[in-house]
Amino acid sequence: MVWVTGASSGLGYHTSLQMKQGGLRVIAGARSYRDKEGEAENGYRLFLDVTDDRSADEFTKKALALFGPPDVLCCCAGVLTLGACEDYTMEEIHQVMETNFVGQVRMIQRVLPLMRERGGGKIVLFSSVNGLLAVPYQGAYTASKHAVEGFSEALRMEVSPFHISVCVVEPGDHRSGSSKYRRRAQTDDPESPYYADYQKTIAKIDHDETNGSDPDRLGRIITRAVQKKRLPARLLIASPDQKLAVLLHRLLPKKLFQRILTFYYGGRLR
Ligand SMILES: NC(=O)c1ccc[n+]([C@@H]2O[C@H](COP(=O)([O-])OP(=O)(O)OC[C@H]3O[C@@H](n4cnc5c(N)ncnc54)[C@H](OP(=O)(O)O)[C@@H]3O)[C@@H](O)[C@H]2O)c1
Repeated sequence: MVWVTGASSGLGYHTSLQMKQGGLRVIAGARSYRDKEGEAENGYRLFLDVTDDRSADEFTKKALALFGPPDVLCCCAGVLTLGACEDYTMEEIHQVMETNFVGQVRMIQRVLPLMRERGGGKIVLFSSVNGLLAVPYQGAYTASKHAVEGFSEALRMEVSPFHISVCVVEPGDHRSGSSKYRRRAQTDDPESPYYADYQKTIAKIDHDETNGSDPDRLGRIITRAVQKKRLPARLLIASPDQKLAVLLHRLLPKKLFQRILTFYYGGRLR
């Protein structure tokens, strides 16, 4: 039994679909499933808002009553708000952190007692290549994914004695994401001093995502991983050039790497 959050669209949808097609029993959670609960092609759909304690409790109660405790929790729910660090409203920062980081913690805390009780389990957190390196105008998202990376390392060490394994998935660009989850901060204002660089950067980000990797392939990789005895610590699922960027980020002096990245996104170099 696998619980997948953020399963109504993008990588969460494709992951739940591939899991179901791979023979796993899936509970698929998302806010869009409010009036559409029940069996579907990607699993048994239940309403879930990962930013809300009561919704997380209700989802857990219903999922347990339906099929018992989960063997695997896969936390795919996430949002992206593009904008300059200076321009984000506090509300935007909170919303990104609440969904992408706190939302995963909220669900993990609900399944851990169940997994400890039954003697083991698997937890898959969704980070991103942005959990390893920053991209301009994705400051809030990058911060949330770095938080996921740090949290998962502590979690892995703590739960390993209980036979619970933890995997962080780090997707590169995939062509699945829905534009309704790509919000824009106030940098969309032509009066913003960041406007010109921001427009060039988001055009490149849009282009890379539209031409990104196959989401079903990612779903199949995660499905195979959760079917093994223990999860790998991390799954970097990205194109060769994005994997190279991760390597260069590790090897090159920070300022040099950031100049290369700024050039790539068409920003101004100083
Ligand atoms: N696509 C990529 O290229 C890419 C790259 C790196 C990492 N990722 C990560 O992969 C995950 C999926 O992203 P995506 O771009 O593929 O999908 P997406 O199309 O942006 O879909 C986002 C999903 O998250 C759900 N969601 C948002 N807020 C939620 C909330 N409060 N409670 C429950 N569910 C919520 C949405 O469902 P509802 O609105 O129905 O709730 C939807 O199913 C995210 O964690 C993202 O950071 C994606």
